[in-house]
Amino acid sequence: MKIVAFAASSSKKSINKKLVAYASSLIESSHVDVLDLNDYELPLFSEDKETELGKPALAQAFLEKIAGCDALVISFAEHNGSYSAAYKNLFDWCSRINPKVFQNKSMVLLSTSPGARGGAGVLAQALNSAPFFAGEVKASCSVPSFYENFDMEKSSINNEEIKLALQSAMAKLV
Ligand SMILES: Cc1cc2nc3c(=O)[nH]c(=O)nc-3n(C[C@H](O)[C@H](O)[C@H](O)COP(=O)(O)O)c2cc1C
Repeated sequence: MKIVAFAASSSKKSINKKLVAYASSLIESSHVDVLDLNDYELPLFSEDKETELGKPALAQAFLEKIAGCDALVISFAEHNGSYSAAYKNLFDWCSRINPKVFQNKSMVLLSTSPGARGGAGVLAQALNSAPFFAGEVKASCSVPSFYENFDMEKSSINNEEIKLALQSAMAKLV
């Protein structure tokens, strides 16, 4: 199974990138391509910029990555209760090229933050909106208090309950 995974964050130290890489590794016999949103950085979307730039190659390349996978795993950073600007900007550009951004792919949606809610607010938004963009969400999981529940040295979850919840979510892709 070809999995495309990414954190909806442009932070170089993204905890959501650590989580999404770990979660994707739980599916055996899969090939995982972990994307970095910094490789798809585009000017701030506006209709004026769109008139000027058309359909940027980086947005097309991002859509092609999604087109080429069997399943998508996304972990959302929460910024003020919502998406990071980096993710929303890339998503807006992509949606103008293909409104079915998620292209009927099976998806698992995740989130984490240092706080006790683990990005539950942004995850709820992503879950609500995914079907409008042809996303077929199979499961979701938010990981609270990331730094307490993730072992940075081992790059893995150290809380058994959360580990099982993630395993169960990821198994829905198979
Ligand atoms: C502008 C800004 C707003 C934030 N707002 C929230 C928030 O609403 N809820 C939350 O749990 N964490 C919030 N945080 C903390 C992030 O969860 C934390 O920076 C986390 O590391 C982001 O995920 P990332 O490392 O994958 O980018 C915010 C951080 C920033 C920089």
